[in-house]
Amino acid sequence: MSEVTIKDKTFKTFIPEADLLCRVKEVANQISRDFEGKNPLLLAVLNGSFIFAADLMRYITIPCEISFVKLASYQGIASTGEIKEVIGLNEDITNRAVIIVEDIVDTGATMKRMIEKLGTRSPASLDICTLLLKPGKLKAPLNIKYVAMEIPNDFIVGYGLDYDQLGRNLRDIYTIVEE
Ligand code: IMP
Ligand code: MG
Repeated sequence: MSEVTIKDKTFKTFIPEADLLCRVKEVANQISRDFEGKNPLLLAVLNGSFIFAADLMRYITIPCEISFVKLASYQGIASTGEIKEVIGLNEDITNRAVIIVEDIVDTGATMKRMIEKLGTRSPASLDICTLLLKPGKLKAPLNIKYVAMEIPNDFIVGYGLDYDQLGRNLRDIYTIVEE
């Protein structure tokens, strides 16, 4: 167990990289089976999902493509509730099998908004794949097809997830130590 300090907060090891990769590979295998012959488009939500998306895509064994959108709703350790679309989607997703790749679903506001917006663009299918889910914080019902791991409500960093933009490069996931 190791501890790291980021700005004013302390975090301790929570999910080791090996455990994360094991689950990412299982989810990738599931996607490879479910989307055989469909050339799915992975749509990764930046910034948080960039590492997960890279690992997930490399474990997928069927032809697939990737594109990125940039959204932000978090400031510090709390969701602002307001989601800004920073980089939009240029790709034509008409008749495409789209899989949204997200780092973590917390209140679900970000995913709800994405599903609403992308749903109007006539994809063949539209599914959510998230590395992490905090079921205790989900506000609206959301149909999430792939969840690598469920975690408690506590704030976490690492493996792409940040605290005020820092900590994304930590290989393991760390959870906040409440003083
Ligand atoms: P939601 O819209 O409330 O579901 O928030 C989703 C976004 O908030 C995620 O895509 C993350 O970028 C960010 N987020 C939620 N929980 C955490 C956390 O524990 N650590 C870091 N970022 C988080
Ligand atoms: Mg995110």
